[in-house]
Amino acid sequence: MIAEEQLCNLTDISYKEAGIYENTRFEKIHNVVYDDSDNASAIVAREIGDLIRSKQARNETCVLGLATGSSPIKVYEELIRLHKEEGLSFKNVVTFNLDEYYPMTKQNAQSYYYFMHEYLFNHIDIPEKNINIPKGDLDPDDILDFCVNYEKKIKSFGGLDFQLLGIGRTGHIGFNEPGSHYNSRTRLITLDHLTRSDASTAFLGLENVPKKAITMGIRTVMDAKRVVLLAWGQNKAEIVKEAVEGEISSKVPATYLQEHHNTTFVMDSGAASELTRIKTPWLVGPCEWTSELTRKSVVWLCNHTGKSILRLTDKDYNDNGMESLLTLEGSSYDLNIKMFNVLQHTITGWPGGKPDSDDTKRPERSNPAKKRVIIFSPHPDDDVISMGGTFDRLVEQGHEVHIAYQTSGNIAVSNHEAMKFAEVAAALDPEDQLYKKIIHHIRNNEEFNIDAPEVRQLKGLIRQKESLGATRYVGIPDSQAHFLNLPFYETGAIKKRPLSDDDVAIMCDVIREIKPHQIYAAGDLADPHGTHKVCLDALFKALEILKHEDFMKDCWVWLYRGAWHEWDMHEIEMAVPMSPDQVLRKRRAIFFHQSQKDGVMFQGDDSREFWVRAEERNKETASRYHKLGLADYAAIEAFKRYFY
Ligand code: F6R
Repeated sequence: MIAEEQLCNLTDISYKEAGIYENTRFEKIHNVVYDDSDNASAIVAREIGDLIRSKQARNETCVLGLATGSSPIKVYEELIRLHKEEGLSFKNVVTFNLDEYYPMTKQNAQSYYYFMHEYLFNHIDIPEKNINIPKGDLDPDDILDFCVNYEKKIKSFGGLDFQLLGIGRTGHIGFNEPGSHYNSRTRLITLDHLTRSDASTAFLGLENVPKKAITMGIRTVMDAKRVVLLAWGQNKAEIVKEAVEGEISSKVPATYLQEHHNTTFVMDSGAASELTRIKTPWLVGPCEWTSELTRKSVVWLCNHTGKSILRLTDKDYNDNGMESLLTLEGSSYDLNIKMFNVLQHTITGWPGGKPDSDDTKRPERSNPAKKRVIIFSPHPDDDVISMGGTFDRLVEQGHEVHIAYQTSGNIAVSNHEAMKFAEVAAALDPEDQLYKKIIHHIRNNEEFNIDAPEVRQLKGLIRQKESLGATRYVGIPDSQAHFLNLPFYETGAIKKRPLSDDDVAIMCDVIREIKPHQIYAAGDLADPHGTHKVCLDALFKALEILKHEDFMKDCWVWLYRGAWHEWDMHEIEMAVPMSPDQVLRKRRAIFFHQSQKDGVMFQGDDSREFWVRAEERNKETASRYHKLGLADYAAIEAFKRYFY
């Protein structure tokens, strides 16, 4: 339950207007959920901006506690926009950052000092002297004094007016890892293995991640007048649920916020997806039984009871908060058969539609029998990783399949991989200056630094040729493999440019040229650097532009997942089964992407190689169908239709 004064203290009514605001007997922290993080971040930035302005009007200093990591990036972008376009000044702002790795130099691109300047401070008018970030380069003997003074300094400004937080998968806030005491203050702390492993992508390997950090304490955060915690994406969902619904415990330090009088968790739908009111709303109170919710609840009930659909009884429904659904549907017998059929009809071995057949109960149209298809692949291997089996079937069933690789994927090729190719080329033509130059660049550049243009070109070509290996294996001519090299990606660094009109124009051109009946695209938004999301945004923008053109009336869009996570059972609208042989063919197609095998540079938080992830996910989807009482397939690739 939220205390009355907590509601009164919420400074921005828009949280209640724009977000879904509800409290349930399960929830102990006020929280709001938005469809996506862009909108949510803009609202948080507005709250910060309003606070700064109101303090300015009273001639007061505004004391902000700031976080780093991926969560606050869009809030900072919006603050910069407010500064540049709406005249928001930061002259009266003093900031205290939550934490810094230890040991860490300011110049290191992984330091939080560097991060804050890159993402915020360099673009606003905050005086440098007003910026406070824990120091990562202190002599060990000076750490204690530094920490005590950090606390004193916060106090000298009257405490934090606003504290922005992210949440780690260990439940840490700041770097207060499990075990942190309620009364802890700024101090040196040892990082958890999970925290280090989550950071290992940015550091290009676990061994490079510092083992310690200096962090504000729990008590420092709890003393803030207002706390907003940001959580985006499905991989935060479990820990968010524990923080909001669990008991207060040092095992999940974010649960301490349950005792803070003015905290809001701001989340996107992915991060909120495990909250009881969202995952199983029928357990919380009356709900509107849409077809999607009905499907979700029946799938959940099967998992919960360990039964297949056709074995569910009236008692099962009644015991689990679903009696109103039974009242609507008649009886468990009718409902079970209906839901069994709904799921059965998602399964098809004809992803491009089955020619000359009644398609009223099939996921795809039978006409035209031979379709033109574009598979958009954000990186050069997502096509085969995520839908290699379906790709293979589409080709085998005679459709004209084009693959459009959206980005070059060049930053994911390691120096030693690139060196192999450069040395082979140089050995074939020892006089060639270009190869010599490339070898020189690779030898003299650290893995972290931006590559010379020639090296990037080589790395991009390696990925391009690997893709061609795979597409030839599946059986499409090279002319049907399109390498779009979208410009937003080409920074040579992990941080990309925002999507531009040029990117969207390239997408529009390829769609106009092919005039597809089907588009497949990655709806897999959990990749560590957000490239999939940008690539999907590029498609959505292109569809907005093209949707009134004649050929688009015949074009259906299917979203796939696979490299990073999978659709939930209730979301799947087309399920393409694979035989054991087809699973092997898919594996071989993925193997063409050799630069992404055996310890890839950007692994994310899943230590499995991509082909293993794909196989295990596809096997898992098949077994879920089987457990619900449907046929027992070796593997299934899953898709959800997108309506534009
Ligand atoms: C960062 C910090 C951490 C992060 C948390 C989530 O200053 O203190 O608590 O907020 O690890 O990180 P992201 O946002 O990268 O998921």
